[in-house]
Amino acid sequence: MSAAPSIVLPRTFARYSLFDFIGKGGMAEIYLARQKTDLGGARRCVVKQILPELASDAAFSEMLVHEANLAARLNHANVVQVFDLGREDGRLFIAMEYVEGFDINGLLRRCSQSKIPLPFDFAIHVVSEALKGLDYAHRRTDDAGRPLGIVHRDVSPSNLLVSFEGEVKVCDFGIAHANEALGGHRATHVNEALKGKAGYMSPEHARGEPLDARADVFAAGIILWELAAGRKLYRITESGPSLLDQARRAEIPLLPDRGLPAPHELAEIIGRALAPDRRSRYPSAGAMQRDLEAYAIRAKRMTSPLQLGSWLTSAFGHDIVAQRRARERAAAAIEKGALVVLRPIAASAELTPLHGSGFGRPPAPADAPAPLLKPPRKTRAIALLALLLVMAAAIAMMKVRLHFH
Ligand SMILES: Nc1ncnc2c1ncn2[C@@H]1O[C@H](COP(=O)(O)OP(=O)(O)OP(=O)(O)O)[C@@H](O)[C@H]1O
Ligand SMILES: [Mg+2]
Repeated sequence: MSAAPSIVLPRTFARYSLFDFIGKGGMAEIYLARQKTDLGGARRCVVKQILPELASDAAFSEMLVHEANLAARLNHANVVQVFDLGREDGRLFIAMEYVEGFDINGLLRRCSQSKIPLPFDFAIHVVSEALKGLDYAHRRTDDAGRPLGIVHRDVSPSNLLVSFEGEVKVCDFGIAHANEALGGHRATHVNEALKGKAGYMSPEHARGEPLDARADVFAAGIILWELAAGRKLYRITESGPSLLDQARRAEIPLLPDRGLPAPHELAEIIGRALAPDRRSRYPSAGAMQRDLEAYAIRAKRMTSPLQLGSWLTSAFGHDIVAQRRARERAAAAIEKGALVVLRPIAASAELTPLHGSGFGRPPAPADAPAPLLKPPRKTRAIALLALLLVMAAAIAMMKVRLHFH
């Protein structure tokens, strides 16, 4: 994920004030934004701006609008809520709920950098909650009760978000479908974007066959395998097969012995989720979730959102939340008309995680947005120039008046 936003922050965009850059994926730039409410308040949200080269493709846009409209019907604790979809300045965008925390990739990166292992109870909890969100989406019907046939198609660690409140949410429903709708020369761009994603594809997906909910079950199985094994399932080597080839073959190695509780029961669940032939797989995300929950109970590995949230906050939360709050106060000042320029945190951070990014720099005190509030040199020069012009105009006016007297 690249860390450079293509715009200067803050920026008004449609009815949002974009005030922080979260990151850039293969298809979009993600900004943290404020949206003013009719009652004079403001709520935080995320604005996902689709990259212009994709948004200008008619087939892509049409599919994205279709999928985003389906996603907007989803309303569940384990699914990121989509609020809005539109086009502004020629850019297609989706506004959605902001999940303050990390995506699973970012979390694992932080865990390994700080040498704090992710407790396995939390790993089970994350997959179990994500399965609840997937199962809900798979079962959605239209108003006449017909199945909507929603399949996520891109269940991967970067699309599973965990918040400092301990919530787990699946994001980006259907976006991968729009990606697959891209044709012609743009397919190259998409292939690039999809390269890393092949690591979570079911064999039928990798073969380009039509998908159903069981493809998402397979992807959830890979995530569970990786969290249990402590490594990626498919590895890329110089001379070895590509990720896509490995996904087509779906050869699943035995779980390494890491001293996890009731390993046979766990291996059985993972094995059933990762059956290459989908007819032998769990028929639904709900069926897998029930088995995983039963395993957690028997293995005494139950946990709660409260425990997950407080672990996340104490292990990684302080500097991030403090920096984000400082930016938010600065953004509120901008809305009131103050002259403020915000430097995106992610652009200068070593890591490019979900939020923020300030990792690796000294934590900013919660009440000290001062360095962010300083207008840059260019702005000061413009202000000085404007002042000089006003003074010149005033002198000219005085001269004219004197002349007439
Ligand atoms: N609703 C959200 N709340 C908070 N952070 C989010 C939200 N949606 C996305 N993000 C963060 O922004 C990052 C970039 O998202 P994006 O979907 O563009 O890319 P990706 O998931 O990493 O890759 P890809 O483009 O291949 O899906 C995510 O990894 C996640 O950390
Ligand atoms: Mg994503």
